[in-house]
Amino acid sequence: MDRIRIIGGQKLNGVIPVSGAKNAALPLMIASLLTRETLTLDNVPRLNDVGLLIRILTNHGVDHMIAGKRPGDRPIAGQTIDFNAKNIVDTTAPYELVSRMRASFWVLAPIVARMGEAKVSLPGGCAIGTRPVDYLLMAMERLGAKIEIENGYAVATAPKGLRGGEITFPKVTVGGTHTALMGAATAHGSTLIRNAACEPEVRDLADCLNKMGAKIRGAGTPEIEIEGVGSLHGARHTVLPDRIEAGTYAMCAAMAGGDVLLDGVDAGLLQAGLDAIESAGAKVTSERDGVRITRNGSGLAPVDVTTAPFPGFPTDLQAQFMALMTRADGVSRITETIFENRFMHVQELARLGAHIRLDGETAIVDGVKALKGAPVMATDLRASVSLVIAALAAEGETTVRRVYHLDRGFEQLEQKLRACGAQVERISEGG
Ligand code: UD1
Repeated sequence: MDRIRIIGGQKLNGVIPVSGAKNAALPLMIASLLTRETLTLDNVPRLNDVGLLIRILTNHGVDHMIAGKRPGDRPIAGQTIDFNAKNIVDTTAPYELVSRMRASFWVLAPIVARMGEAKVSLPGGCAIGTRPVDYLLMAMERLGAKIEIENGYAVATAPKGLRGGEITFPKVTVGGTHTALMGAATAHGSTLIRNAACEPEVRDLADCLNKMGAKIRGAGTPEIEIEGVGSLHGARHTVLPDRIEAGTYAMCAAMAGGDVLLDGVDAGLLQAGLDAIESAGAKVTSERDGVRITRNGSGLAPVDVTTAPFPGFPTDLQAQFMALMTRADGVSRITETIFENRFMHVQELARLGAHIRLDGETAIVDGVKALKGAPVMATDLRASVSLVIAALAAEGETTVRRVYHLDRGFEQLEQKLRACGAQVERISEGG
């Protein structure tokens, strides 16, 4: 198992190319199950989660072809992958695969839509909380599927096909909204989704489905209307930039100081995150190619944030912002409202010298003058990168263990940081 070694104290200066969004790529890949024709996705990030989903889709009979690098591509250009689900050979998604990546549960909707039945393992718990799928199943029921839970599997059947319906989510759910969109796209009749997630990744999925012939209006707002169409066809779509990756590097720059251009991302995708960074004392400038983060000389001010569905402050940036606040000049309060157990990074940040106290769903961070390098352990995807951020500003050496969490969601993290002057390297266990 690899580790990442970071020597803190270097400023970051340079350009960081932003990859395609993991959280858009996954549902887009799953959408390929909805058509017999080829769906071509550009700008797919090279991530372990993408590789795992390819395995899961292959299990259902989806063929894929990864295009080679083309001359003139950006140095870290995403992949172009063709997905073809001409024949779905297996309607079951087994526990061994679904339990490794929750988003794979989303295959349920397109497989029922195409085949009239699907059997998908319940994903089980994960490090950041219980994360149930009740709203996803409710959405499928509203679209006419019959759902039964058998031996840890959700079994959904709709022998005569799905039909349109009204779906009102009691709470904003990204996965629920993806499921409803994919179920409703080819259902008989119209569907109305109320309290839909407004995340940019939902809009990206809807844009792609529309290119495939779906009739979806209102994606990106809380009310989405879908007029079911008989079938979908092939299309070509570019995965949108990863706002969480961009926000993470913005926090790296704010933490280490320096001047970094986040190449290829639009500030509108991560305004709440950028506002918080700006309030903390970094300068944020929108430029033609991306967003520039600068901090030279000035200290960090404490800023309170509360996570919320888009356009609020994303839960997926909460751990990273907490890392930044460990060095602020005063006390900040960080409140997590989306997932109940998303503070696993607190104990690890404490190993670097951070002062953080938990009070229910709020972390109270008392900024310290200096962090000190130490061995730490990654616990989940976003928590692990918060340790990297803290390490960039810590005195001496930090090693982060269990970096497979990072590899799930951050493409070429060490290379991107190193290109800006950070001292970061990957070492193999025992190396
Ligand atoms: C997605 C993202 C994840 C992000 C999260 C919130 C992907 C691959 N993952 O996860 O990175 O942190 O959105 O922005 O895109 N809930 C229920 N019942 C359900 C479904 C959800 O109670 O059936 C609850 C969850 O426990 C959580 C909240 O609703 O408290 C939001 O979860 P949801 O938006 O569904 O998260 P995911 O789609 O799993």
